[in-house]
Amino acid sequence: MPRYAYANGRFRPHNQASVHIEDRGYQFADGVYEVVPVHKGQVVDEEPHLDRLARSLGELRIDMPMSRHALKLVSHELIRRNALTNGFIYMQVTRGVAPRDHKFPKAKPRPALTMTTRQLPAKSDAQVDSGFAVITAPDQRWKRCDIKSISLLPNILAKQQAAEAGCDEAWLIDADGNVTEGAATNAWIVTDDKKVITRQADASILPGITRLSLTQVMARAGYELEIRPFSQQEAMNATEAFLTSSTNFVMPVTRIDGQPVGNGHPGILTMQLRQTYIDEVVTGGRGAAPGDVYRSMAV
Ligand code: PDD
Repeated sequence: MPRYAYANGRFRPHNQASVHIEDRGYQFADGVYEVVPVHKGQVVDEEPHLDRLARSLGELRIDMPMSRHALKLVSHELIRRNALTNGFIYMQVTRGVAPRDHKFPKAKPRPALTMTTRQLPAKSDAQVDSGFAVITAPDQRWKRCDIKSISLLPNILAKQQAAEAGCDEAWLIDADGNVTEGAATNAWIVTDDKKVITRQADASILPGITRLSLTQVMARAGYELEIRPFSQQEAMNATEAFLTSSTNFVMPVTRIDGQPVGNGHPGILTMQLRQTYIDEVVTGGRGAAPGDVYRSMAV
């Protein structure tokens, strides 16, 4: 257990930090969050994560709870107090505390900021070598998946379905039979002719920060990238597949619905991308710049 959490404007012992019973996040999931990776005590891609937080809040007309500078100070202090080396900072901002009523409160409450950290072991070579097994499941989410909302019921149900099938992730399928993204990750495939494909960052997916930085890494290294939807069938027939997220970086997908992807082992290109991403962004600090989230989005 981490030692401290941040809530109600203070650092508190983790097991004593709490939120008000009428917090609109608790009652309505009226809030947003960020999961910001930490590697060797350093925050990875901090600016684009804070950009995305600001954007999610803006879309819901919730004010930033404090300045960007203050958010950094608080999160860095939490890393220090919890002696966090590898893992993530979880930041959540809700519209605040008000008597239960669906519409926005007339007297604007103060947005409620909470922060926790979680230590995670780095993925072992064995985990990466076996890759992730995914299932496919219908995408039952709302039409604003670009907002990193704390309302995650469809994601939770899909992830649970994957876990019950002995798998690591669920790839969500839209009404046209295309993969949107994973329950908590972005989805990618590699074709026979070595083209890397991932869906466009519109309202149907979360614009992943790992996705964004990886596209930039790929552009610098001269990889060919096609941004377009791909179907469930294309994914099943792909030579390689992988997923991206702040907690997995670039992770090979080796099985889809029980069928091996390619030869059932992590793809060569996938492993190159994983290594390059780790070298450049995670340890090298060459991630996305402030403003890149906005520039990368179609909505
Ligand atoms: N999940 N898509 C969804 C639906 C996600 O929830 C996430 C992140 C991603 C990847 O985004 P990023 O690269 O910025 O982590 C894509 C986080 C890690 C979570 O909810 O735990």
